[in-house]
Amino acid sequence: MNIMKDQITLALSKGRIYKDTLPLLRQIGIQPLEDPETSRKLILDTNHDNIKLVIVRASDVPTYVEYGGADLGVAGKDVLMEHGSNELYEPLDLQIAKCKLMVAGKPNVKPKRRRLRIATKFVNCAKEYYGAQGEQVEIIKLYGSMELAPIVGLADKIVDVVDTGNTLRANGLEPLEHIADISSRLVVNKASMKTKSETIKAFIQRMSAAVEKM
Ligand code: ATP
Ligand code: PRP
Repeated sequence: MNIMKDQITLALSKGRIYKDTLPLLRQIGIQPLEDPETSRKLILDTNHDNIKLVIVRASDVPTYVEYGGADLGVAGKDVLMEHGSNELYEPLDLQIAKCKLMVAGKPNVKPKRRRLRIATKFVNCAKEYYGAQGEQVEIIKLYGSMELAPIVGLADKIVDVVDTGNTLRANGLEPLEHIADISSRLVVNKASMKTKSETIKAFIQRMSAAVEKM
């Protein structure tokens, strides 16, 4: 990747997104010099002097990219829908970290409450989904372990991402309603797209070719 003349930073989250993005980066000749799972550093050098990785929480990627804390980022469509901003370019579906955003709950249970109570970390997505159906629900914000909420009576249902369904099954829940198919997207800061246009366009083109090959 030698036409890269501008300095660019790519925001990634540890875990799934990092692991799934790494083979794509490798395909286009970019290799981190450190492993975020073992390093405490938040800015990682790569084998290219002008390309750095910044390591942030998955749900913070759109914020970093929107405000220019990073030029580019990789974020789940669920996180982007929840972030809900038009201030980001989303030029490429990386076809990684695929799952579905779903409503889930206990099978065959009639909610006791007049107004359905939904536990989720995707508050805006849940509001939009139920709003579109004209259903008024009470939404409880959680940060994780959503599957616990219906079991302990905290909520009637949850809105969460589902892949194999193993987590739901292990907790006696089942998928009930499909909200959206999810995969991770490359996102780009709007100003960077203008000021570093050549480098960023080259990066997008190469990543796109790498996605095709995977
Ligand atoms: P945060 O730290 O901000 O709470 P997180 O812990 O949800 O984020 P990850 O679990 O690494 O972050 O998930 C990153 C993205 O991967 C999600 O936004 C979603 O798009 C996708 N994802 C989440 N769970 C799964 C899964 N079980 N299978 C496939 N993809 C998933
Ligand atoms: C995600 C999600 C579900 C699970 C779904 O959790 O919050 O709990 O994956 O995947 P499954 O349908 O294949 O079981 P994750 O593994 O990311 O854990 P975390 O949310 O606690 O980080």
